[in-house]
Amino acid sequence: MSWLITGGAGFIGAHVVRALVEDGTEVVVLDDLSTGDPGRLPAGVPLVTGSTLDRALLDRVLAEHRIEGVLHIAAKKQVAESVAEPLRYYHENVEGLRVVLEASAAAGIRRFLFSSSAAVYGMPDVLTVTESTPCAPMSPYGETKLVGEWLVRAAGRAHGMGTVALRYFNVAGAAGPELADPGAFNLVPMVFERLSAGLPPLVFGADYPTPDGTCVRDYIHVSDVATAHVAAVHRLRDRPDRTELVLNIGSGEGVSVREMLDAIGRVTGLDATGEVVARRPGDPARVVASAELIAEELGWSARYGLDDMVASAWAGWQLRHPAD
Ligand code: WQD
Repeated sequence: MSWLITGGAGFIGAHVVRALVEDGTEVVVLDDLSTGDPGRLPAGVPLVTGSTLDRALLDRVLAEHRIEGVLHIAAKKQVAESVAEPLRYYHENVEGLRVVLEASAAAGIRRFLFSSSAAVYGMPDVLTVTESTPCAPMSPYGETKLVGEWLVRAAGRAHGMGTVALRYFNVAGAAGPELADPGAFNLVPMVFERLSAGLPPLVFGADYPTPDGTCVRDYIHVSDVATAHVAAVHRLRDRPDRTELVLNIGSGEGVSVREMLDAIGRVTGLDATGEVVARRPGDPARVVASAELIAEELGWSARYGLDDMVASAWAGWQLRHPAD
């Protein structure tokens, strides 16, 4: 029996694939390769190239590979792009999920995991975000993840599937340089990009109501994110009937932009003193996970710290930008 991993050739998906394979689980990857890279997959992992919107393809894959459970990781994930192209985000993230759920239900799948996001919370007005903190997404991206959670829960109940939705906080780092995130859409790679160009990193606002005035986030190593999926697969495998979980994947520790710049300076040996510019519209001052529920339900907690995240991300950046 195998697990189907949609988006398994992407940045997070490939880390999940690798962790599951190391755990002895058979996997099959479905990826449209829009941002995925087959080179990230371990040898011997079957890759089906295609879209989650392709019902006939899903039916075929689910039948041919004797699939025991589905990890639906494939999604569009850029907040700004989702504001510009909401119809595309709803189509790919919500309709894509609906088709995968429909095919899964038709194939009698009883175990389903969905990649959600801290973006479902929007601007939480609490120091630590628990899974029962009210959700108020601020972008079409976050909306598609919240709607996705509802769809997964409803389909799970109607079709007898155990379900887990994992709300990723700020994912960073890499298990190896070749697995690093090639995009530069988040703080760590955006700082690397500036440093590589000989420019000071930008700090989007230093007048927030936080200890050093810069925004605080919960950064989580992608290898920790991957082991959380392995723990969730174990739970779904053992107890599909009694599993309907929505869980934060975070470290529980807040790190400010300035603290991140300090870590980047420490690890790279470069001068990462930031230049303060205007706030970026829509940024909440502080978003930090409570990681208690996932510890209780899955026995999982983060192992890697900030310097591990930065060092592994930097190794990946240098591999892709050898001339910098
Ligand atoms: C982090 C902090 C910026 C760049 C986004 C999505 C979220 C999730 C993760 C997917 C903020 C500041 C950034 C820079 C800066 N995605 N910053 N200078 O906005 O917390 O979360 O990615 O699920 O849904 O919203 O992440 O890495 O963009 O920013 O000062 O050059 O760094 O203002 O406070 P964010 P980020």
